Amino acid sequence: MSKELPEQDASGTETEAVEELAARRADSRAGGGPDRIESQHKKGKLTAHERIDYLLDDETFRELAPFSEQRCQNFGMDAASYPGDAVVTGYGSIDGRKVFVFAHDFTVLGGSVGEVVADKICRAMDQAIDAGVPVIGLNDSGGARIQEGVDSLSGFARIFRRNTQASGVIPQISCIMGPCAGGATYSPALTDFTFMVSETSHMMITGPDVIETVTGEQISMRELGGAGAHTSTSGVAHGAFEDERDALDAIRQLLSYLPQNTMEDPPTVETWDSPDRDCENLQEIVPNETKKPYDMNAVIDEIVDTGSFFEIHEQYARNMIVGFARMDGQSVGIVANQPRAIAGTIDIDASEKAARFVRFCDAYNVPVLTLVDTPGFLPGTDQEHEGIIRHGAKLIYAYAEATVPLLTVVTRKAYGGAYIVMGSKDLGADRAYAWPSAELAVLGPRGAVNILYRDELAEADDTDARRESLIDEYKTEFANPYKPAERGYLSDVIVPADTRRRLIDDLELLRGKRGESLPKDHGNIPL
Ligand code: HXC
Repeated sequence: MSKELPEQDASGTETEAVEELAARRADSRAGGGPDRIESQHKKGKLTAHERIDYLLDDETFRELAPFSEQRCQNFGMDAASYPGDAVVTGYGSIDGRKVFVFAHDFTVLGGSVGEVVADKICRAMDQAIDAGVPVIGLNDSGGARIQEGVDSLSGFARIFRRNTQASGVIPQISCIMGPCAGGATYSPALTDFTFMVSETSHMMITGPDVIETVTGEQISMRELGGAGAHTSTSGVAHGAFEDERDALDAIRQLLSYLPQNTMEDPPTVETWDSPDRDCENLQEIVPNETKKPYDMNAVIDEIVDTGSFFEIHEQYARNMIVGFARMDGQSVGIVANQPRAIAGTIDIDASEKAARFVRFCDAYNVPVLTLVDTPGFLPGTDQEHEGIIRHGAKLIYAYAEATVPLLTVVTRKAYGGAYIVMGSKDLGADRAYAWPSAELAVLGPRGAVNILYRDELAEADDTDARRESLIDEYKTEFANPYKPAERGYLSDVIVPADTRRRLIDDLELLRGKRGESLPKDHGNIPL
């Protein structure tokens, strides 16, 4: 029996349905309407859709739940109709690899987060975890939606829980693209990297008005929570960019070093830089005099694939450098002392900065290359009272628990605790090298002589001459790489020019390294 065909006018109905869908989509994309979009543009900001379109590969965005609407009846909210509510969520591709993305829509109720906004973000994050792909949050939000009361707070709690569950499973990247307040700051703080836009983004738990009411202090939004404050003083943000497009470009670049999830290795890219290249300039860059400053960035640039270093957290704790680079096309995380900033000593901020970075690399199978030139931990009452012991322990913990390949090179000096902390062999480094002029000791020569020979120096006829002669003796005996090499604490002493090829060889060898951990819920890092 033949099936009955639909009536002829069915195609007309279908056309209307498609038109209705297009109209509804356009309505959803219009967010808070033309006036608010114009106001957003006037501030130098893009809309949520424009940001996503710029971030993702062309035509790859698939929006999810564009028609969800808030259900709140309070404060006249029943009259508000914004399909999609104040967030755009979905997935797409960056350089051909899938990512989930959510972008607050500031044109709708200031991007505030109520029940439905939280539902949409949580669903995107759940799917990102299930699919094993990174999630990117483009934040532009007034925080918890006041009208929705505790539903908003519950929504943020659910988002924070997802952030925590995703941590160590999939990379999470946040970009602050407007005035983010309250809960809209804590979700980024739980993610792996937070970027800001220089003039138009702010992050704060309580704004200037509240601060003035409570404490009487007057401060501008910019001073309180601008990109400068968070990239250099608080360390909450990992980079600030001139405008939104620069920030979105930086997210794409950052992802190029990372795997999709903790089960995968980072992508390897084609490189024209020879793995066998001599690092001819290193000898020139690093002075022999132990106290003379030099730029460790120049050392990094010389060793890694040309132009591949992407520094993270550049303005914060400048005495410690962290960032991603490539060696023969393979991603590596770089941790390095910077002798140009407080002589490369390690302080509280530097310890935390490096510890968090090492833990990130370890979670995502990125080998860590550590370049060491430090006289030790920064001495001082402030540092002691603010907890350098507890914070320095974080860095020890991070290296000691890491199971990714760890390669360490002492470029000049490594004294005392800082020698141990900076990826020493006994903390777990697979390779620890030193250059021939490196000094590895418990104390620097002058400090050591002053302690060891205190009585003799007090009685000497010519104290200064005697001190210098004892310093020379100490240098010959201890302040060189051969004692530690004899004792097996170094894998080898290598000439600087060989550094790149040796490290690339090691990385190739260690590519299959899979670390083992004892069974436990999780460790208890000294937070
Ligand atoms: C509802 C909000 C809102 C919010 C902004 N809007 N924040 N609506 N809930 N939280 C609305 C405004 O009423 C306004 O609507 C529109 O968004 C744009 O806001 P403006 O104030 O005109 O913009 P701007 O001058 O740029 O100031 C942005 C702002 C400011 C700095 C974010 O709006 C602000 O301070 N908002 C409140 C921030 C806050 O305290 N949030 C709660 C945090 S507590 P109209 O219709 O007038 O255009 C929280 C709980 C979780 O988040 C804490 C976890 C630890």
